Amino acid sequence: MSHNLLAGKRGIIFGALNQDSIAWKVAQRCHQEGATFVLTNAPLAMRMGEINKLAEETGAPIIPADATSIDELTKLFEGAVEQLGGKIDFVLHSIGMSPNIRKGKTYGELNYEWFQKTLDVSALSLHKMLAVAEKLDCLNEWGSVVALSYIAAQRVFPDYTDMAQAKAMLESIARSYGYRLGKQKRVRVNTVSQSPTRTTAGNGIEGFDVMFNYADAMAPLGNASADACADYCVSLFSDLTRYVTMQNLLHDGGFGFVGISESVVEMMTPKGA
Ligand code: NAI
Repeated sequence: MSHNLLAGKRGIIFGALNQDSIAWKVAQRCHQEGATFVLTNAPLAMRMGEINKLAEETGAPIIPADATSIDELTKLFEGAVEQLGGKIDFVLHSIGMSPNIRKGKTYGELNYEWFQKTLDVSALSLHKMLAVAEKLDCLNEWGSVVALSYIAAQRVFPDYTDMAQAKAMLESIARSYGYRLGKQKRVRVNTVSQSPTRTTAGNGIEGFDVMFNYADAMAPLGNASADACADYCVSLFSDLTRYVTMQNLLHDGGFGFVGISESVVEMMTPKGA
């Protein structure tokens, strides 16, 4: 159902790899709500070609950019303003990648060059894109930036290894840049801390199914889906949330505030006890 919440708004959506991606669902919802936007992803991800289907469905131009490259981000923001016909109202950062997780390294065995790559791709990229946007002065007043995070920024999930530090840094950058852009342009910057979600990045984490099922059993509302996350992002891009900034917003069905649930007690109780 559309409420035209984003009518007339222009955006940039990073991170739609395939139809499971959270960014894919956000793009579909933004389109339904009347926004126009550019889709972008790393040139390597483009080769899979899936994004063309989403571009066709939403009428969005595609501009490839590696989110760690200032040059490519500059061309992206300049291209987006030109193709969309004005300054940008919203940005979705939906980017995460850890070579250490990909190669199955435990926390004690992390390769430090890869660790830096994890931080660059998954966290510094938010700083880089906002610094580029600031330099080009291409964000509209009362704009909104959302980056996706995970509760491993605050709590230990052993198999999340260096991504935990990346998410902590991402949330910190959102606060610091949220202050700066709030002062300069009344632009808000928030992170949305999402439930475990079955996507390419999610499934890449060792023991993902157990994390997913555990979170689902703990949360009074159950895990939030990618579609529900898209609804929440739309609300944050809309004018209905103009004074929400510098926050890490839990979108997790209540998981983050539960100590234990009846379902987990039941799971842990020996049979016949
Ligand atoms: P996904 O694998 O569909 O999306 C990750 C995206 O990052 C891909 O589109 C990939 O091409 C892009 N990317 C990687 N390196 C890049 C680079 N150098 N430049 C530009 N883009 C690059 O997976 P998902 O789950 O949709 O991930 C989106 C965000 O949601 C990530 O930040 C992830 O950490 C976060 N998140 C995911 C959860 C899950 O359980 N799936 C839970 C909480 C947060």
